[in-house]
Parts: sequence; structure tokens; C-alpha cells
Amino acid sequence: MMKRKTTEEYIETIYVLQNRDGYAQTGKISSEMSVRPSSVTEMLQKLQEEGYIKYEPYKGATLTDFGKKIARELMKKHKIIADFLEIIGIERELAEEDACQIEHHVTGKTLERLEKFVEFINNAPKEPKWIEHFNHYIKTGKRKECTFYKEKERNII
Ligand code: FE2
Repeated sequence: MMKRKTTEEYIETIYVLQNRDGYAQTGKISSEMSVRPSSVTEMLQKLQEEGYIKYEPYKGATLTDFGKKIARELMKKHKIIADFLEIIGIERELAEEDACQIEHHVTGKTLERLEKFVEFINNAPKEPKWIEHFNHYIKTGKRKECTFYKEKERNII
């Protein structure tokens, strides 16, 4: 699991740097990830062997089509997880930070369900009542009375 995380973190970092600078310089990867340049070089050679990047010593790395595909999948995972966390009331900045951890460990099955959940909530015609109630509960520790059932009890509805 650790190995997968590290590989994916490199791919993400390279993706971001490549989009910004055209290619990912070894020194920039090193400072971005707080990893020694010698370790970066070693990892870049490995990533090249595995087909994720094209590596030119002293210049840096660019993602191959395969590497880009993996990077885009990671970005998608990241967004689903961050959106989910935001729905349950986590502020965006923390949601982003945690998404970057969870994305490397979540199974495909769980991610699929999270995606459905986010879709279900975001495409709802209006914000589901239970979310409002949940947010109220988070803020106050108390449940909001559900007016629908109360009114039903009184035979108003
Ligand atoms: Fe991420």
C-alpha cells in the first residue's frame, strides 16, 4: 500500500508541474515533495521503467499517455472524495488535504459508491432535508424536530 501511495504521489506531483512548466524538473519535484534529489532521481528511473514517465537526466520528467491516464484517474478520485467530505460538512481546504490521503487507499467499490452518493446529492432538485438536519446536529449536538412527522401526528397533513 505504501508503495502504491508513493508512486501515485509522484505521478500527481509530476502532473501538476508538467501542466505548469511543460515538464517536471527533478529539483522542483524534490522541493514539492520534500524528498532528497537523489531519491527523486532513483524514483524517476523506476517510474520510467514502469512506463509512467519519460525521464531525461538533468532535465526532468514528462508523463507518458499511460502516466497521464493514471494522473487523470487520481484527480477524479480526489474530486469525488473531497466533494463527499464537503457534503458531510468538512471545510474545502481540509477536504482537499484528506482527499489526497484517502485517494491512495480507497477501494474501487467504495469509490464507486461515493461517486453515486455525490451525484445523488448534487443532482437533487433541492438540498435534501436530512443534510440540513445533519448540519444542525453537527453545530448544536441536537436533532431538529422533523416538522413533517409532527404535523402528520397532528393530522395537519
Ligand atoms: Fe490528490
